[in-house]
Amino acid sequence: MIGSRLAEKIVVVTGGASGLGYVSCQHFSEEGATVICVDLEETVARDAANSFPGEAVGLAADVTDEKSMNRVAQSVLERFGRIDALFANAGVAGEGSAHSISFDAWRKVLSVNLDGVFLTARAFLPMMIAQQYGSIILQSSMAGLKGMENLASYSAAKAGVIGLTRQIAIEYAEDNIRCNAICPGTIVTPLVRQAYRERHGEKEAEAALSRRSQQYPMKRLGDPRDVSSYAVYLASDESNWVTGTSLAIDGGLNARM
Ligand SMILES: NC(=O)c1ccc[n+]([C@@H]2O[C@H](COP(=O)([O-])OP(=O)(O)OC[C@H]3O[C@@H](n4cnc5c(N)ncnc54)[C@H](O)[C@@H]3O)[C@@H](O)[C@H]2O)c1
Repeated sequence: MIGSRLAEKIVVVTGGASGLGYVSCQHFSEEGATVICVDLEETVARDAANSFPGEAVGLAADVTDEKSMNRVAQSVLERFGRIDALFANAGVAGEGSAHSISFDAWRKVLSVNLDGVFLTARAFLPMMIAQQYGSIILQSSMAGLKGMENLASYSAAKAGVIGLTRQIAIEYAEDNIRCNAICPGTIVTPLVRQAYRERHGEKEAEAALSRRSQQYPMKRLGDPRDVSSYAVYLASDESNWVTGTSLAIDGGLNARM
C-alpha cells in the first residue's frame, strides 16, 4: 500500500483483469481499498486479484448476464456488507459504419458496452440505496463525446453511457449516490491493439498508433494511470460533490476543432 485515499473502501471493478480495469484495481489497492476484480474467467480474475498489494477478491461474471451480475452483488453484500465504489469498466472494441455493420456485430458491442454497464449499475444500486452512499463510475470514451469514423456501435454505446450517467446522477442524488463517466482517449491496451489490427492490419498497427499519438495536442497517447488517477479521485470522498459529469481524459484532443 502506498497511500490511504481509499482506506477501508470496498471497490468493485468489472473488466478488472486487463488494461484500464487492471491498472485501476492496482491503483485502488495501492490507496488502501479492498478490491473485487470481476472478469469473464475465474482463474484470470483471481490471478489478477492475487497480484494487487492489498486485500482483493477475483470473481467471474459476464456483465451482459443479468443473473451473473446480481450474483456478484449478492456475494459482495454477503462477504463485505457494503460497497463504496463501483467502476463499470468492462468493454469490447467494435468497428464498422452504420451502413455496413451487421446487426449481430452491433448488438454484441451494445450488449457489453451499454447493457453491461446498465446491468452492473443496476445490480449494485439497491445496496447503495439501502446504505445511502456510493460512487458509481461508468467507463465511456472520447467516442461517446465525438463522432469517429467506422465506430457506429462503439460510439453509440459510449454516448449511451453518458446519458445513463446523467440519469443515475439525478435520480439517486438524494440517496447520496454519485455517478460520473470517464471518457478516455487512446490508451494502448489489448482492446486498442485489437482495434488497430482490425483497422490497419497486423503489420501497420504499430505505425498507425504512432501516427495517432501525433494527433493529440500533447503528442502522446494516454497511460492507464492517467485514467486510474481520476478513477481513484471519483471513488474517494475527495469528489463528494461531483456527480453527473463526463470528463475527457485525452491530452487535449477534445479541445481541438
Ligand atoms: N484503451 C482505450 O484507449 C480506451 C479508450 C476509451 C475507453 N476505453 C474503455 O475502457 C474499458 C476498458 O478497456 P481496455 O482498453 O482496458 O480493454 P481490455 O480489453 O484491456 O480490457 C477489457 C476487460 O473487460 C473484460 N470483459 C470484456 N467483456 C466482458 C464481459 N462481457 N463481462 C465481463 N468482463 C468483460 C475483458 O475480459 C477484459 O479483461 C472499455 O470499456 C473500453 O471501451 C478504452
